[in-house]
This record gives sequence, C-alpha cells and structure tokens, in this order.
Amino acid sequence: MPLSVSPSASPFSSPFSSLLPGIVARLRAVGCVFAEEEAALILSTASTPAELTAMVDRRVEGLPLEHVLGWAEFCGSRMAVDPGVFVPRRRTEFLVAQAAGLFRWEDRPTPVVVDLCCGSGALGAALAAAVGPLELHAADIDPAAVRCARRNVAAAGGQVYQGDLFAPLPAALRGRVGVLLANVPYVPTGEVGLLPQEAREHEALVALDGGGDGLDVLRRVTADAASWLAPGGHLLVETSERQAQDAVTTFTRGGLIPQVVTDDDLYATVVIGHAPGGRTSAGR
Ligand SMILES: C[S@@+](CC[C@H](N)C(=O)[O-])C[C@H]1O[C@@H](n2cnc3c(N)ncnc32)[C@H](O)[C@@H]1O
Repeated sequence: MPLSVSPSASPFSSPFSSLLPGIVARLRAVGCVFAEEEAALILSTASTPAELTAMVDRRVEGLPLEHVLGWAEFCGSRMAVDPGVFVPRRRTEFLVAQAAGLFRWEDRPTPVVVDLCCGSGALGAALAAAVGPLELHAADIDPAAVRCARRNVAAAGGQVYQGDLFAPLPAALRGRVGVLLANVPYVPTGEVGLLPQEAREHEALVALDGGGDGLDVLRRVTADAASWLAPGGHLLVETSERQAQDAVTTFTRGGLIPQVVTDDDLYATVVIGHAPGGRTSAGR
C-alpha cells in the first residue's frame, strides 16, 4: 500500500542524504513504483547508517513500507505500526471523519468511545486528536496489535484490552458507549489469496479474513452492539460497496437504524448504525 509522503519527509534534512540516489536505485530495481518517495521517508526516519541499511534491506525483501518505517500516516498523524499489525488504510480516514461529525461541542460528560478490533489503535487515537477529550477504550484479539495500540492511544489517555470482541471490555461500559468504531476484518475467506502480497504475507490473517462472505465478525459485532451503546449512540463499520446491503441487514437485526455513507475518492463505504432513543450526538 503506498503511503502518502508527509511534507516533512525531506531527504535533504537527513545527514545521509548523499545516499539517496543509491537507495532509490535499489528500490526501483525491485519494482517500487514510488521509489523516490519511499527513499525520502526511509531517510527521514533512520537515525544511523546501520539502521538505514537495515530498513532498505527490509523494504527490498518486500516488507510493507509502514512496517519498515514503524509508522503510518493516518488522519495527518504518525501512528506506530509494528510488524504483523494491520496497517491503517487511507480509506479508513473516512470512517474517522464520519465519527468526528457525530460529536457536538456540548457533548458532556466526556463522550465514551470504544475502538473494537483496534489493530494499531489508529482510529481511536485519530478521533481523539480530532474531537478533543474522550473516554477512549480499545480492544483487539491479537497481542501484537494490543501492544502497538497502547503506544498510539497513550496520548489520549486510552485503555487497551486484549480479547475476543466485547469480552475484555469493562462491564461498566455497557449502555454507556456514545461511539463504537469497529473496522472488523471483512475480506471473504476465498478472496484473501487475491490481496496484495504485502497484506497476505505481512499482516495477520485474523486481521483480514472475515469468513465465507466476509461478514462473520461484523454479524457478531452487530448482534451485541446495542447492549453496549448509550441511547442514541452509534456504531460505525467499514465494508465494501458489494457487502453494504448485507451489512445493513445485520444492523437492522441488531436493533440499530442503519445509514450507508460513501466516499468515491477514497473508495470507502461506511455503515453507521444509530441506537434508538437519547440524543442524536455522540454524547449522552
Ligand atoms: C481490518 S483490521 C483493522 C484494524 C484497525 N481497526 C484499523 O482499521 O487499522 C481488523 C482487526 O480486528 C482484529 N480482530 C479480528 N477478529 C477479532 C476478534 N474476534 N476480536 C477482537 N479483535 C479481532 C484483528 O486482530 C485486527 O487487528
């Protein structure tokens, strides 16, 4: 997945900038389409020549750029991304923007946000950066993701738990969640093999495989979400355009009022489920 180049990634500010042409040539030789941009990012991230060489070697071996760098740009911030952990996708910024739009300045007390299937924790961290103080909780089944998420949500004072979907969350959150983010795995099992090699080989299968039709994890989330949401709270999930109608059905079965929103530029589809009752904003 190409990472957009942050304006601060100038190769000329690196003490190793003279190595740039050689790095570009090595990346080009293995087919990196954005060799100049990637070289600039690697140069701006490495702090020693040995680290620089190791990073270029890893990229040449096919590791995703974000795993080489140790970070991904998401919603304008650098999010830590450890090896094996799902790299937050640019299209998912649309889900965060939709969530941010649900908050009102008068939301008090501090809104409760849960980032389920949090991976690196980028969604909750980005939402907190966008809307201000939140009571942020995140959870993932993968211990590597949980370790990574703890670093990303620390600035927002968030808590990260390890376990299966809602199971590790504190029981006291039941009925209090204003916004529930859940970018669950949604690739149908039979299509995992068609994903780009970087995803197939370097992201955990549990982060990608959504079961037969891709909606197995989503169905489990929508079945339980209403009991965790505050009256008038919201569940937001990303899906593919093709899966959106079936996703809507699962929301309705779960007692949520569904709404589909899309962004053609980002090729993003998000389903928002509104819990009945309460106010319409993210707070209680
Ligand atoms: C598509 S990734 C999304 C990660 C992150 N939300 C993002 O958008 O960058 C899905 C995540 O769901 C987690 N996951 C899969 N099944 C889970 C389950 N049953 N309970 C909790 N987390 C799960 C995976 O470990 C992975 O981190």
